[in-house]
This record gives sequence, structure tokens and C-alpha cells, in this order.
Amino acid sequence: MSPVSTVTAVLLAAGSGERVGSGSPKQFLPLAGEPMVIHSLRTLDACPAVDSIVIALPFDRSGWPREMEGFAKVAAYADGGPTRQNSLARALEHLPEDAPVVMVHDASRPLLTGQLLRSLLGALDDSCDGVIPAIPLEDTIKRVSTGMFVTEQLDRNGVWRVQTPQIFRREALVDALTRAIEAGLEATDCSHMLTLGGYRVKVVPGDPQNFKVTRPGDLAWAEAVLASRTVPPAGGRL
Ligand code: CTP
Ligand code: MG
Repeated sequence: MSPVSTVTAVLLAAGSGERVGSGSPKQFLPLAGEPMVIHSLRTLDACPAVDSIVIALPFDRSGWPREMEGFAKVAAYADGGPTRQNSLARALEHLPEDAPVVMVHDASRPLLTGQLLRSLLGALDDSCDGVIPAIPLEDTIKRVSTGMFVTEQLDRNGVWRVQTPQIFRREALVDALTRAIEAGLEATDCSHMLTLGGYRVKVVPGDPQNFKVTRPGDLAWAEAVLASRTVPPAGGRL
């Protein structure tokens, strides 16, 4: 099967970012000099296989950065809903007709790379309906009570933590989402809906730097990662 070349990216940027605690949506907070959402938008826009982008934004559009208008592949803005799944459902209503493959990405992961996108796209073949990036757990996993006592050690063998972007065949994603809604399931991860629906989801190695900005200190951490990626200009080193 030839590599995927026609992809619509759905960028989810309609959350309120409560855990970051800034009082405004975290995806619009400044990160290395520009709103966080612009980082992932730029990477998606630069991916040759991505030919259009749909962005889910807060219903009231509060604080949304006008810089988003500068990206040629943005095809539509969708009103987000009260949950991630609902924002996804609303964004999917704006998919172009010719969009056989959908890439779903969280704006709260600004550090995705073109290399990760290529890895995902290269893995979508006849054996699967979707591909996700994930990383095997390395730390020991415990269940802890609300009173902060260890109650159980869990077996981490075969347990992986999952990231976005994730790519899916459009029919599989739409069908799995429809079934999830009918069943009253509120999934925080798209691939969960697919596997519940009996679809095959393949895993490629995730990128440890592609973490989700979730808590206050994560912004500084993301800035440090971005700074470490900056290539010094030729002749710039002493
Ligand atoms: N998201 C969304 N619509 C929602 C909730 C979340 O589009 N109703 C998006 C967020 O903008 C984010 C992604 O889904 O890019 C993952 O959600 P998360 O990192 O949990 O962000 P928030 O829900 O905004 O943060 P918090 O849970 O701390 O409130
Ligand atoms: Mg959330």
C-alpha cells in the first residue's frame, strides 16, 4: 500500500486548561514567544501529507490567537463542546468530503515533530484502521489510596502510555465515535473508541518530548525542550 498522502488534521484546542491554573485556556498561553497552539499548528501545516486542518476552539472564541489565520491549510474552525470527545465530534462535522484519513492532535502537546508524523503515516497499512504513538512504562506502578497509602502494586508488563497525534481511517473513526456516543461512553482517547468498536489500532514508538502540557511547571519544561532543539546558526559556535 502506498504511503498516506491525503490527511485532514483535527487540532483540538477547545479545552479550558483548568489544571494549568492560569485562568485562561492553556493552548493560548505564550510558549517560547507565541501562543502554544501555534507550535502544533505549524508542525501540522508543514507536513506534506496533511492537506487540510480543522481546529476546534472554545465556543466563545475567547483569547484565540489571530496568528492562526496565517496558516494556509486551515480549512475550518469548529465550536468546541464541553468535553474533548464532543469537541472532536463537532470538528468532524467540518471534514472535507475527500478526507479518507484523519489525524487527531491535542493542542496541549505543542512538541510534536515532523518525524513523529512520518512514523505514524508510514505505519498505516492494510493491517490496521489506525496508528497511535505510545511509550512503554518504565516506572513501577502502584495504586495509591486517597489517604496516600500504597494499596497495590500493578503489573506494568505490556502497559504503554499513549500520546497524540493519532491517525485513523475516517469511516472507522466516525463509526467508533457514533457507537461511543450511543453507548454513553466518554472517551478521553480516540483509539479507545476504536478498540472498543473492534477496530485494529497499531502502535509506533512515541516521543518522550511530546508530553502534554498539563500542570503549571510544564510550560517552563516545554520551553526548555524547544530551546534545546534550536540549532545554532552556522559559525555561531566559538
Ligand atoms: N479539549 C477540547 N475540548 C474540550 C476539552 C479538551 O478540545 N472540551 C482539548 C484541549 O484543548 C487539549 C486536548 O483536548 O488540547 C486534551 O485535553 P487536556 O490536555 O485535558 O486539556 P484541558 O481539558 O483544556 O485541560 P484540563 O483537563 O486541565 O482542564
Ligand atoms: Mg481535560
